[in-house]
Amino acid sequence: MNFNFYRSKLIIFLVIALPSIVVLVFIFLKSPSSPPVDENDNCHQTNLPYQDKTLPIDQRVADLMNRMTDAEKIGQMVLIEKNSIHNLGDIAKYNLGALLSGGGAGPKQDTPIAWLQMINGFQSATKDTCLGIPLLYGIDAIHGHGNVLGATIFPHFIGLGATRDPDLVKRVAKATAEEMTATGIYWNFAPNLDVAKDIRWGKTYETFGSDTANVAQLGLAYLEGIQDSSADYFNVLANPKHFLGGGNMEYGTSRNKKFKVEEGNITIAEKTLRQVHLIPFQEAITGGARVIMVGTASWQDKINSDNYHLLTEILKNELEFSGFVVSDWYGVYQIETSKYNSLVRAVNAGIDMVMAPFEYKDFISNMREALSKGDITKERIDDAVKRILTVKFEAGLFDRPEALPGGLSVIGNDQHREIAREAVRKSQVLLKNKNSVLPLSKSLKKIIVAGSAADNLGRQAGGWTTEWQGIDGNYGILGTTILEAIKNTVSRDTDVEYNKKGDFSIRNNFADVGIIVVGEKPYAEGWGDIANPSLSPEDLLVIDKVKAKSKKVVVIMVSGRPLNIKEYTKNWDGVIASWLPGSEGQGVADVLFGDFAFTGVLPVDWELY
Ligand code: GLC
Repeated sequence: MNFNFYRSKLIIFLVIALPSIVVLVFIFLKSPSSPPVDENDNCHQTNLPYQDKTLPIDQRVADLMNRMTDAEKIGQMVLIEKNSIHNLGDIAKYNLGALLSGGGAGPKQDTPIAWLQMINGFQSATKDTCLGIPLLYGIDAIHGHGNVLGATIFPHFIGLGATRDPDLVKRVAKATAEEMTATGIYWNFAPNLDVAKDIRWGKTYETFGSDTANVAQLGLAYLEGIQDSSADYFNVLANPKHFLGGGNMEYGTSRNKKFKVEEGNITIAEKTLRQVHLIPFQEAITGGARVIMVGTASWQDKINSDNYHLLTEILKNELEFSGFVVSDWYGVYQIETSKYNSLVRAVNAGIDMVMAPFEYKDFISNMREALSKGDITKERIDDAVKRILTVKFEAGLFDRPEALPGGLSVIGNDQHREIAREAVRKSQVLLKNKNSVLPLSKSLKKIIVAGSAADNLGRQAGGWTTEWQGIDGNYGILGTTILEAIKNTVSRDTDVEYNKKGDFSIRNNFADVGIIVVGEKPYAEGWGDIANPSLSPEDLLVIDKVKAKSKKVVVIMVSGRPLNIKEYTKNWDGVIASWLPGSEGQGVADVLFGDFAFTGVLPVDWELY
């Protein structure tokens, strides 16, 4: 072929392909995915004042802030769910400062080593950033490190509320923190300081109950246990939530059509809001709280994340809270349709860190636009970032050594499980004890056991365990079911027969005692909102079948809240509120068979008659 042939081909190619190449290059350069690059000539230096742990924290913060660009500051103000990070390089590219695991969001395998590797992977990605600011990584370890296989699962707060025992709650928190730090996680979205005034709310079990003083006392104990400020830095950051008043959200007012209470509206007067709901937060702030999460409730139809009076005038000015304020899941973007306007309103109301939780690119471009337009001032951004960085230094993120596999043996260890077992037995509330049927003798001849929660760790544990909504079965949790605990406790001569549905081929009244363990399926948050918390027809049928075969019946209620059972209890001899005891079912047997007395006190009203 001669030269002219190729020349003509080349001309045709250039005429056709060149314009599209130009367009592609233009799109790439303008693509929103590549943020504007702020030049920073402080990159990757060592021995700088902010890196010197002998200096006071305020000096380290001041030095670091002076070296930060606007882009680096804005990246500290967003909290991202880890599953939205599809490229580790985005952590440096967008200067991201905080990640979280939403409920159940873990590595492919929930093993402790996989968690540690995942967290260390995220942290090591920050080394590619200019200033090497470590990530804050948060998780809902609200009844132990519940997402991690093998972790100790403590009773949910509603059960701890029944113990009225601050020392015990402090030890539960400390053990939880030890299992968290073993995986390199130093921020727990707990304690929940909501004062639950309506048990139809799915979050009732996440609270210490309906008594403000009990919530305040146990919330402070939990915070002190988690943070353990005996060292140069906090062990794990506590995060009191949800500011403010969520326990008084009114049934049927949810903004979310899937829910009835969650994301609902509060109409109580400010005086009541302060007397019932503010006191636990005041105690927590006095006790050292450094992060406070704002709930998605509305007060007088104004979303909490948009409320300057609550977040700045009361929380930051009146209570002198100097830590940082983080919004709850999408709580900011529910303010109005425009994401830009919602973000501006929330940050100006007093939100310092936005739990987006996914769209970090939009967040960053909106914040840069708001800063350039003056809709959010440099002073407000500097105030938020100063708060966040101060807390990061207080949590030792710049100074503490990386968590190593050797520390993982603390997870689910015997000492922690013993604390959990103590918490279980102290949380059991004896609701009825006709003719002193309880405690049971360990040497009865025949015990029959039945019920949906008798041999089911998932139901014992409830929501926020392995999965956000919990699990219904015996996978993903290592522990002792209530059935196993009963078998562990009785004498060798006692025959314990189990049938989940209550089908026993024995003659009527043959068993000395029938024990039926029933209650609620696992749930979390709005998915647990319900008009009439009660036992299912299936559970009630099982109780009737067992009663026919037994001389006495004891019903153990495994639930996140009181259930409406008053029309049934007259035929039951013993009734125990077990709440959501978690992995250590042996604690139930401890009081069932009298090794320990029942000491639990109702944390919320439960009308039996
Ligand atoms: C949830 C909850 C909050 C939790 C957060 C992160 O929606 O409201 O309690 O800490 O999101 O999982």
